[in-house]
Amino acid sequence: MRIELPHRSERFGAVRIHGVQEVWELDSGGEPASVDDNAWHSIHHVPSTTINDYERRMAIVVPVKGERLKVLDGVLSGIPHDCLIILVSNSERDPVDRYRMEKETLRRFCRLASRSALLIHQRDPGIAAAFAEAGMPEILEDDGLVRDGKGEGMLIGLALAKLSGREFVGFIDADNYVPGAVYEYVQAYASGFHLAESPFSMVRISWRSKPKIQAGRLFFNRWGRSSQVTNRFLNLLLSSYSGFGTEIIATGNAGEHAFSLDLALRMQFAAGFAVEPYEYINVFERYGGVLASPDKDVMKAGVEIFQIETRNPHFHENKGADHVQEMRLQALNVLYHSPISVQDVRDEIADFLRQEGVIGEGEEPPQELLYPPMSGIDWDTFGRVLGDKSESFRQIEKVRPASLERQTPIPEIPDSESKG
Ligand code: GDD
Repeated sequence: MRIELPHRSERFGAVRIHGVQEVWELDSGGEPASVDDNAWHSIHHVPSTTINDYERRMAIVVPVKGERLKVLDGVLSGIPHDCLIILVSNSERDPVDRYRMEKETLRRFCRLASRSALLIHQRDPGIAAAFAEAGMPEILEDDGLVRDGKGEGMLIGLALAKLSGREFVGFIDADNYVPGAVYEYVQAYASGFHLAESPFSMVRISWRSKPKIQAGRLFFNRWGRSSQVTNRFLNLLLSSYSGFGTEIIATGNAGEHAFSLDLALRMQFAAGFAVEPYEYINVFERYGGVLASPDKDVMKAGVEIFQIETRNPHFHENKGADHVQEMRLQALNVLYHSPISVQDVRDEIADFLRQEGVIGEGEEPPQELLYPPMSGIDWDTFGRVLGDKSESFRQIEKVRPASLERQTPIPEIPDSESKG
């Protein structure tokens, strides 16, 4: 992949936010980068061999809730071969067992493509018990199961990525109609990690366009409705500290993003759709230098955030205006209540929410749920309880037909079928 180097970067304490970088060439070949390749220092060649090296060390988590199977199948086909696929489903099981259909889709794909994968249902009592016994009961609802929500699905995926021994984790929504876009996102994740100088890094995708049909024509929208609002307020927070206006943050809501596990396991995540904007807020809280940081090693090495503008259009299922409104409200709620938020930002958020008719005069935005970092989890206990109690956890083995060689993603943990 040939990718623009960031022209601008802004700092917030130990966090470096790089400006949006464009992809110039989807595949720039496998030759190692020479002095000539990167001589102008504005465009960087990341050889396909290097990208592949990162893919081998990466798990891709696909959160899914009731998406069309054909679309899910397309998403799977776009995930590069050497990444481990982790499907976390919160789809209905009754009266129609959609989870079973997803399992069949994944199994068939893995058999034909000779790949391994992990699969679990979010409401499996076994994953709930694993979180409870290993030290993170906050993720459970009153009914004793993991709460509904995309953020919660991502946390399950993150835990499985950790157990699998992968060093990087990326997230890809299951409702993406363009398999080529999925492929490009993962290549961009790998390129971002390659450019990072710190082991604590995050790569967020900013798509160039989001096509829509308007008045019978295809219209290539630049920004999503929720992103515009989230980015504006996140940038306002930065400006209020630096004293300089900025538009550096363009990926406040990015559903497609990736972390080094070294960073992800130290961070706090928010519930539901507050999850992505809160990732920015939490790195500022922990490593921005405003509050005392719990991680001295991260403060020393710094955190790097890359924002990569991909070439493929982002074409996904449209879930309607109410859904968009819900997402942007959750983003503003977490920013409003953050201990690093300042009065000017709070006032502007409250004014905006009043204009939108969401809160009344004198009312405050609601608080969102925040989870503790996963660094407190006892991973041996987590794996043991998951293996003992899970009903839906499946490990799909990579089988090479000619040699009948099998590779299980996490060999030490039994899955629900191997238990009989
Ligand atoms: N496991 C799990 N659990 N998955 C879920 C849940 C859940 O409770 N809720 C939704 N998902 C899955 C969906 O099936 C989809 O694959 C993905 O999470 C994103 O959910 P959508 O409901 O499709 O969100 P969206 O497409 O409107 O918004 C996406 O893009 C935004 C940026 O524009 C999401 O990724 C947002 O988080 C993101 O901010």
